[in-house]
Amino acid sequence: MGFWEGKKILVTGGAGFLGKHVVSELENIGVKKDNIIVPRVENCDLKIQKNCNKAVLGIDIVIHLAANVGGIAYNLAKPAEIFYDNAAMALNLIDASYRAGVCKFIGIGSACEYPKLTPVPFSECDLWDGYPEESNGAYGLSKRMMLVQSQAYYKQYGFNAIHLLPTNMYGPGDNFDPNSSHVIPALIRRISDAQNRNKSFIEVWGSGEASREFLYVRDAAKAIILAAEKYDKPEPVNIGCGYEIKIKYLVTLVCRLMKFNGEVRWDTSRPDGQLRRSLDISRAREGFGFRAATQIEEGLKETINYWDHNRLLK
Ligand SMILES: NC(=O)c1ccc[n+]([C@@H]2O[C@H](COP(=O)([O-])OP(=O)(O)OC[C@H]3O[C@@H](n4cnc5c(N)ncnc54)[C@H](OP(=O)(O)O)[C@@H]3O)[C@@H](O)[C@H]2O)c1
Repeated sequence: MGFWEGKKILVTGGAGFLGKHVVSELENIGVKKDNIIVPRVENCDLKIQKNCNKAVLGIDIVIHLAANVGGIAYNLAKPAEIFYDNAAMALNLIDASYRAGVCKFIGIGSACEYPKLTPVPFSECDLWDGYPEESNGAYGLSKRMMLVQSQAYYKQYGFNAIHLLPTNMYGPGDNFDPNSSHVIPALIRRISDAQNRNKSFIEVWGSGEASREFLYVRDAAKAIILAAEKYDKPEPVNIGCGYEIKIKYLVTLVCRLMKFNGEVRWDTSRPDGQLRRSLDISRAREGFGFRAATQIEEGLKETINYWDHNRLLK
């Protein structure tokens, strides 16, 4: 508890997918509910400066998770809203946090910030060596702008703002909305819908040849807590599990775990997104001792289980 003792923590996006896990991790380590503040968009839209100014009053630590975020289809459909919302929230919130005397700001970026063409595993040193994959360019660059601002405030004002780059996350509580979900929840839902309608096949975007690194959401939440406690440098840090898997393999695995024996039809007219994505995780290991604990199969079972228990509510 040492680091967190008596501190007031603002968790923006604390009611979202990752946010709920961050809040419950904070509670697990003993932070009192009263000391965790979660602003909601309907009464505290962080795109508006005065809402940010109000939200940070009396706050010691800001964990900034709020974002306009979604899977590849959502990124292709809404690049302007995604860019504006994420850039505006960070711009307002970092400035408000600095002016209100917040001790530490933890900004959550994304592996989508990396250039489209970059050596694998992605190293933090290569972040600026090119434009991101076009399908998520606006999202990635809105997050890079948050990094620029954090580093500028660190340099000019000594403001302790750090920036984390998580890879694709999955787990219980994920977004299963077909219009905005990421690959794992989208796949689980498609299989589940096919089973419920006795369909003998599912369609999946792309060729299946792309690879991704998937981090279980509870591991991601633990990484954020550790970084808040132990990492105080302006250089960004990758948050991942250190191995990539091909989408083809992921689909086979999810089909097996859900006992779906139907055909998988690859829609190659749809984009794959970035061809390979896997992070060099040494900085997080050395900087604050983070190692992901959950194996993909175990994490997928938890996620499928969550969907089975909650699908009627979605
Ligand atoms: N999911 C992934 O695979 C992934 C991977 C890498 C990085 N990330 C990053 O991790 C963070 C959390 O992502 P997530 O998947 O948990 O997203 P999420 O479930 O969509 O949650 C986003 C949260 O942001 C809040 N929000 C959005 N616009 C807001 C606004 N204008 N004012 C105030 N709050 C606003 C929402 O508040 P309400 O609850 O009030 O609607 C929601 O709680 C994001 O920064 C994202 O970029 C996610």
